[in-house]
Amino acid sequence: MPKLTYELVADRISNNEKYMILVESRYQAKYANQIKILEIRKKDKSLLLKKIAKKVEHEKKIMAKENNRLNKKLISLKKANDSVELNDNILQVQNLLMQFGGLKAVNDLSFNVKRGEIFGLIGPNGAGKTTVFNCITQFYQATSGDINYYSSNNETIDLKTIKVHDVLKCGIVRTFQNVELIWELSILDNMKVASHTKYYSNLFDQITHSKKLKREEYLIEAKAIEVLKRLDLLKYKNLIPLGLPYGILKKIELARTLMSDPQLIILDEPAAGLNDIETQELAKTIKQIQKDFDCTIFLVEHDMGLVMDICDTICAISFGKMLAIGNPSQIQENKDVQQAYLGGD
Ligand SMILES: Nc1ncnc2c1ncn2[C@@H]1O[C@H](COP(=O)(O)OP(=O)(O)OP(=O)(O)O)[C@@H](O)[C@H]1O
Ligand SMILES: [Mg+2]
Repeated sequence: MPKLTYELVADRISNNEKYMILVESRYQAKYANQIKILEIRKKDKSLLLKKIAKKVEHEKKIMAKENNRLNKKLISLKKANDSVELNDNILQVQNLLMQFGGLKAVNDLSFNVKRGEIFGLIGPNGAGKTTVFNCITQFYQATSGDINYYSSNNETIDLKTIKVHDVLKCGIVRTFQNVELIWELSILDNMKVASHTKYYSNLFDQITHSKKLKREEYLIEAKAIEVLKRLDLLKYKNLIPLGLPYGILKKIELARTLMSDPQLIILDEPAAGLNDIETQELAKTIKQIQKDFDCTIFLVEHDMGLVMDICDTICAISFGKMLAIGNPSQIQENKDVQQAYLGGD
């Protein structure tokens, strides 16, 4: 069961409220056929309607009780949150070193990622960009250095102490250089699987297929549909990924990241393999995610047009070492960067 954070509690309350609105129509839909059949037998129909009303009332009571409990928790978390100023940075990397035998893939690298920005990491092939991501997300254990993550719950998390499978629960989600969808599942199911950290039902609920589980699955599906709709992907929901254009698959990968309510989204070469039009579309989607879903984006990208277009801050590295950090025009004007990346004098 995930730790109850401010966001998680607020999210559950709003989800419970959405569910309460939908519950009546859900029962009506469930019994629609029976209501139709009983149309002529007025007495039986009114009995069925009474039964539905009773069930709805019962569900509402449970939800109201749950909301009361969560509201109390929310108030106490809010009090604790309000007393502390939120750190401007969401991520702080200090003196990061990652050594593979004699090779220093990342060498004494330090930078901060500000909350809410789009931060780009650039560098030629083999510069160490993916290794930086792997160290942050704990796929690799860094040789030395500090990686601190400041959650929106005002917690400072030393990511080196977090297990790789728990990083997602901290609010950090990543994509890989290749598309990593489950090919046998529909797009909707791919989305639902991506929110596995949000399930709070237990093994007992799974075995008995309890009401709690059904409610949870229903809410997760509603959330998946909402995300797909907002990113204009709803028309693909019942299709499997196989055969879809690469640009759409990349967009679906982005949509999937949102299912775990991330604070920080890490994207490894999101535009790789895309044509110009698809890249422009992707740039729009990344911007939309940053704004509409209130996320910080940290990306590695070779497409300089995309990086310069959407990033607020860019960090350029070469052979694992920092070359320059600044806004897009500062990076474009930097002599070392021109020499190393753009082939300037
Ligand atoms: N697990 C590993 N074992 C040994 N060497 C590795 C490992 N992972 C990465 N490297 C080496 O570290 C260096 C940096 O690799 P990395 O994949 O981080 O580069 P990159 O900047 O992401 O490159 P690209 O742009 O091609 O994706 C390379 O020399 C690579 O061969
Ligand atoms: Mg890479």
